[in-house]
Amino acid sequence: MHTIREILDNVYWVGVNDRRIERFENLFELDKGVAYNSYLVRDEKNVLFDSVDAAFTRNYIQNIEAALDGEELDYIVVLHMEPDHCRSIEAALTRWPNAKFVGNAKTFKFYEQFYDDRFKDRYYEVKDMDELNIGERTLKFVTAPMVHWPEVMVAYELKDKILFSADAFGSFNALNGNIDAKYVIHKGDWIDQARRYYINIVGKFGNMVQNLFKKVDGLEIKAILALHGPIFKDEESINFIMEKYQRWSKFIPEEKGVAIIYCSMYGDTEQASDILANNLADLGVEDIVLYDISAWDPSFPIADCHRYSHAVFAPINYNSGLYYKMDAFLRELVGTGYQNRTVSFLNNWSWGGKSLEISKEILEPAKLNYIGEDVKINSSVKEENLAQIAELAKVIAEDIKNTEI
Ligand SMILES: [Fe+2]
Ligand SMILES: [Fe+2]
Repeated sequence: MHTIREILDNVYWVGVNDRRIERFENLFELDKGVAYNSYLVRDEKNVLFDSVDAAFTRNYIQNIEAALDGEELDYIVVLHMEPDHCRSIEAALTRWPNAKFVGNAKTFKFYEQFYDDRFKDRYYEVKDMDELNIGERTLKFVTAPMVHWPEVMVAYELKDKILFSADAFGSFNALNGNIDAKYVIHKGDWIDQARRYYINIVGKFGNMVQNLFKKVDGLEIKAILALHGPIFKDEESINFIMEKYQRWSKFIPEEKGVAIIYCSMYGDTEQASDILANNLADLGVEDIVLYDISAWDPSFPIADCHRYSHAVFAPINYNSGLYYKMDAFLRELVGTGYQNRTVSFLNNWSWGGKSLEISKEILEPAKLNYIGEDVKINSSVKEENLAQIAELAKVIAEDIKNTEI
């Protein structure tokens, strides 16, 4: 049996949905799974794009067989060698022994690093901007180094103007019947999951994403087929995701708002953070999110820090250093290229320690605009702290009013 979909004329989705996975890259928590997309283009020569996780090899092969409908497979194109997309290449190459393995020099180098060179005779090497004619259609390969691995390339199909975009434009969440972005991207938490995927996995490489955009600038794109998440084939959806990617890759905030990230062992710093949030709300700030750093996978607050124009970090001392969950969060935040945001601090220094200094040191490489006086709580919120928190809220609310998005 099979689960294929004909998504465009003679273009089939032959991927799989993984709803059992708990962490993507064994790191990022998933609650609604992820799709490993793979596509089959039928023409005089039949071309398969990428493969899927090892747990789904059987379903994947069944899908390709169904889409081929008895025909031969001529090419297997590998746009990305991360194992969520390459664990079933061997099975496909073995099942279709006449298929050529299309990749660039780095694709084959990585293939041999992860596996071996037993398919060496079947390599079909392409270089940046090379074209491959497959009948009515021609594929143009465009290398996209570090979006987000070195060997990544995208492919542009000239007849129907399809961009096979590798991990770019991908998102978390398994596909649930509707694969067309038109019916998915404005529903539920899709945009939050797409942002979380981009910021945490590709985010650091914003400049490389911009380089790719320059390389494909001028190409008319009528469909985007990514390796995860829905496919984009109407103008409105394509424009929507393109606009998001322009902001994300240039590190421009999407919305005016404040992300308050705190740590709190016994609730006092949480109380201070709540008081700050209440003050901000009373001053008319509409978008405020609070994250207890111990309660969340860091990928969630990291995505919201990129989303909003402003952030407040509330670190606490632990063994005279910085509470380690905040330490890890701030380091990873900087690692995602966080910059161009306005930030403030609320610190519970209790009986001593360097959490505030360490937090600032970690954030040093990011280009940030600091506003307001650092609020310092001594174990619990006191009367004098209320005025300091109110003052900080005033400074932030005023700054938000003057922020252009
Ligand atoms: Fe990847
Ligand atoms: Fe991927």
